[in-house]
Amino acid sequence: SDQHDTVLVETRGRVGIITLNRPRALNALDAATLRDVVAAAAAFDADPAIGAIVLTGSEKAFAAGADIKEMAARSGPEMFLADWFAGWDAFTRVRTPVVGAVAGYALGGGCELAMMCDVLIAADTARFGQPEINLGVIPGMGGSQRLTRAVGKAKAMDMVLTGRQMDAAEAERSGLVSRVVPAAELLDEALRTAETIAARPLPATLAAKEAVNAAFETTLAQGVLFERRLFHALFATEDQKEGMAAFAEKREPRFTHR
Ligand code: CAA
Repeated sequence: SDQHDTVLVETRGRVGIITLNRPRALNALDAATLRDVVAAAAAFDADPAIGAIVLTGSEKAFAAGADIKEMAARSGPEMFLADWFAGWDAFTRVRTPVVGAVAGYALGGGCELAMMCDVLIAADTARFGQPEINLGVIPGMGGSQRLTRAVGKAKAMDMVLTGRQMDAAEAERSGLVSRVVPAAELLDEALRTAETIAARPLPATLAAKEAVNAAFETTLAQGVLFERRLFHALFATEDQKEGMAAFAEKREPRFTHR
């Protein structure tokens, strides 16, 4: 459909899959892609039948960056007035957990979009980098902040200042991704992970994502208190009663809210 020119959207059970699909531009993230990714993610987020989202690209590229050709001729005031890239913030407001599955290039905005995902799985072919310095700019979709939080100052400075790429092994060693799998198994591994998440009780899942994300926005004491209050609130759910009763009775829980 012309609402989704740049992504493929499908559903498998309780998992929504968004596949970046601009093969001729290595999935460069232009304004249409921003619109389509955010629309697809928001639609899945609003769908009670969906419990997790997988975001992936192609074998060659998750995404090779923001679309350089679309930006190249823009003036400073134009970039500022359009608040270029601000629209991606909507992707980080999605409450449903997002599993990012990266094969090939995740450069610039591609690396930054991957870092907006909640669980990040890499194929052994994945390459991560923030090469903006080679274009006379710096990361603009959160890279200087999320990469630094993910891998620490030393590696973030190294990558942002030199533009060098990390392979999958270094990305896993550095804590940028949670798992590396052979390229042929990437989508299956991401789907299995998303299905596992989607099968868990939804109130606890949403609370868990909010609690982990709070670690990036609050002091330790505030974050620990926020976590504890969410923990208390979950005792108002049927799923907590069922989950704990099932444990005591040595049987599988039958969750209400999935
Ligand atoms: N924007 C626009 N088009 C891009 C693109 C991008 N980021 N990356 C690749 N493409 C296009 C190429 O221009 C090419 O199109 P044509 O066939 O019309 O020439 C097509 O995709 C295939 O790319 P290559 O021929 O270059 O493929 P390759 O295998 O030789 O090289 C690559 C792959 C090393 C990833 C190379 O494409 C590359 O360096 N891409 C740009 C990477 C980059 O600088 N990313 C950062 C962008 S700026 C940014 O993201 C800002 C931000 O912070 C959000």
